[in-house]
Amino acid sequence: MPTGPHDRYQRPLRDLRISVTDRCNFRCPYCMPREVFGLNYPFLKDPQLMSLDEITQIAAAFVALGVEKIRLTGGEPLLRTDLPDLVRALKQELKVKEVALTTNGWLLEKRAEALRAAGLDRVNVSVDSLDPDTAGRMNGLGFSVERVLKGIAAAAAAGLSVKINCVVQRGVNDGQLLDLAQYFRERRHPLRFIEFMDVGNTNHWQRDQVVPAKEIVERLHARWPLEPIGPAYRGEVAARYRYVDGGGEIGLISSVTEPFCRDCHRARLSADGRFFTCLFAALGWDVLGALRAGARGRELEHFLARIWTGRLDRYSDERADLLAHGEIRPKAEMSYLGG
Ligand code: GTP
Ligand code: 5AD
Ligand code: SF4
Ligand code: SF4
Repeated sequence: MPTGPHDRYQRPLRDLRISVTDRCNFRCPYCMPREVFGLNYPFLKDPQLMSLDEITQIAAAFVALGVEKIRLTGGEPLLRTDLPDLVRALKQELKVKEVALTTNGWLLEKRAEALRAAGLDRVNVSVDSLDPDTAGRMNGLGFSVERVLKGIAAAAAAGLSVKINCVVQRGVNDGQLLDLAQYFRERRHPLRFIEFMDVGNTNHWQRDQVVPAKEIVERLHARWPLEPIGPAYRGEVAARYRYVDGGGEIGLISSVTEPFCRDCHRARLSADGRFFTCLFAALGWDVLGALRAGARGRELEHFLARIWTGRLDRYSDERADLLAHGEIRPKAEMSYLGG
């Protein structure tokens, strides 16, 4: 069994995140602020996006190098109507062990059954608040959270494992974390609190808006005692805790206060087929261009392996130093890169 390429810090390549479109039907201010990503934003044109067949061919090369898990993201991946066909190709043709989806849930109620039938294993759905006003503010367009909750129920009913993602911003939704925990405890969906990150260049990130994971754990522990449990898989970004009373589990994604670059096995493919080796990188390598110029099979694998072998990224480990020196680097936007 080949172990595949390792980067300059000896990290293997195991996970691939594919952004299938840079468009979204939400405008979360922490990701695609409405004043920037309004009606005239230069989103990619359709011919720039990877076709289903192109995604499958690039994914096949990554799988040959050791990728075991593929996550489909965006923008909002459910805006692509060919998504079940893609899932089917990844599961049935490429035999990918685990295929997962990250979505805002708006279109999930209608799509859950077809995705499950196509072989989708898991889905992570964003819910930042249960309060209609706060939820509306955090999706940028005043959309109701009720519809997202129905989508989550439909996904669970279709047999998908569901996790919930909540981006925490001090002064915005940090007063509502216990309500969220109560709701998802009752339904046994693991709820992951994500520290607000300085992704992209437009979300007005400020360090004092980050609620440290430790503080979140303390607040929840005071209400329902918690105990830490180990990761479900090596390189998992969330640190997991279980409720001592048997109410399921939560996770903390603490890229700011407790970075996890040491174990980062994640490659990213942007919506226009560029290979990024870090969420905070500015540029990616044009894999789609290589494919369209005729690269196939082994040639494509060598191209990807060379990039991974030279990888030195550890942005979250370096963030504090960079900020202390006032160094601000340009970064790709999260919606284009896929989070
Ligand atoms: P699981 O497979 O369920 O563990 O999902 P995941 O947490 O890897 O993926 P998801 O799309 O749900 O992402 C949750 C949050 O973690 C998002 O805010 C991502 O941007 C963030 N995240 C995922 N991978 C990385 C990473 O390698 N580095 C950083 N800094 N953040 C990441
Ligand atoms: N900080 C932390 N998480 C973010 N996400 C989007 N933007 C940010 C940010 N600035 C989350 C979304 C989704 C996941 C893919 O990334 O809420 O759950
Ligand atoms: Fe869309 Fe997700 Fe970004 Fe919100 S976080 S704007 S739902 S891509
Ligand atoms: Fe990986 Fe970059 Fe995130 Fe560190 S900051 S965990 S290297 S994606």
